[in-house]
Amino acid sequence: LLQPVILSGGSGTRLWPLSREKHPKQLLSLFNGETMLQATASRVRSFHGEVAVSDKLIVVCNEEYRFITAEQLQTVGFENCTLLLEPIGRNTAPAVTLAAIAALDKNEDSVLLIMPADHNIADTKKFHEAVAAGLPQAIQGAMVTFGIVPNHPNTGYGYIEIGETLEGSSAVQLRNFVEKPNVEVAQSYVDSGKYVWNSGIFMMRASIWLKAIRHFNPAMFIACEAAYANANIDIDFVRISKQHFSACPSDSIDYAVMEKLSTTPELQIGACVVPFDAGWSDVGAWDAVWEVSEKDQHGNSKRGDILAEDTRNSLLISDSRLVACLGLDDVIVVETPDAVLVTNKANTSNIKRIITRLKEQN
Ligand code: GDD
Ligand code: MG
Repeated sequence: LLQPVILSGGSGTRLWPLSREKHPKQLLSLFNGETMLQATASRVRSFHGEVAVSDKLIVVCNEEYRFITAEQLQTVGFENCTLLLEPIGRNTAPAVTLAAIAALDKNEDSVLLIMPADHNIADTKKFHEAVAAGLPQAIQGAMVTFGIVPNHPNTGYGYIEIGETLEGSSAVQLRNFVEKPNVEVAQSYVDSGKYVWNSGIFMMRASIWLKAIRHFNPAMFIACEAAYANANIDIDFVRISKQHFSACPSDSIDYAVMEKLSTTPELQIGACVVPFDAGWSDVGAWDAVWEVSEKDQHGNSKRGDILAEDTRNSLLISDSRLVACLGLDDVIVVETPDAVLVTNKANTSNIKRIITRLKEQN
């Protein structure tokens, strides 16, 4: 059985002013419809092919967002999810550890399909095919990653060096995993043609993840076990114990486990990469939102009360009033009741500078 796990813990400050601490980006409807959380859940619903998928999703999120998360999932037909509620953020490795413990607590040793809640995947069928291609490897005990052919030296991603193709499979061996290299190193990886980007989607048996985390970070394993054992369970809300989870070290899947696997042969956990060509985007910043959203014949993506004249290739969002644009190219305009962002598309990844300034002022 394939057990979907959704990680829904980021705040996504680069999509300010729509995303805020109180409105993380995965809970926003950026594309005139489902939120990214809902789209992530919907993506596993109608699995093409032969894969048996649990309809009881595991969702790991902060306890502050439990009602909106449960409600959004209900709206798209997931009535009974298990919500693992973190009292504080400890990054993704503890979140997966909690999910693995919860899965083993209920089931036999199912294969976890770990999905970030804030990605866009244009082609659901290809996503399903990639999962199906990696499943036999995961069942046999490998850590399965999904790799994307890189087109620029993005320093926000993990890079995976690919090896030989595995027999009878479209998956390839994972040689080496490097999380967030600097731009020179990233450029050399892109130029080499031997590296792919890590998509942030993973698949492995619950027991295999726990074996790895126990080896690499025993303190994390122990803290998560205690935090789950002392959780307060209220139907499908599992409130992780704050006292025990506070003691948990913070780390990501990538640094805590993936980077170390290829240099730890004695652990005997193999890793592989499934080629992933399904229109993936991690929607990190506003330019990526423009990229993946529907555009009119002038290349504009518009939402809300927008009047655009002689304007091209722009993302124009109005939340509360009329926004008129005249003679603009390649801009981002995001209007909300209390803040308006106007920037050039090329600048959107620098928006952290605005957030830093705002924090200084408060
Ligand atoms: N529940 C929970 N708790 N979820 C979390 C937490 C947490 O403490 N921290 C992050 N998440 C969720 C985020 O909401 C996001 O959906 C996902 O986990 C990944 O976290 P990010 O913080 O966005 O990771 P990243 O983008 O820096 O890097 C990862 O994704 C890249 C692709 O987008 C890595 O896996 C990279 O290797 C990868 O290339
Ligand atoms: Mg991310």
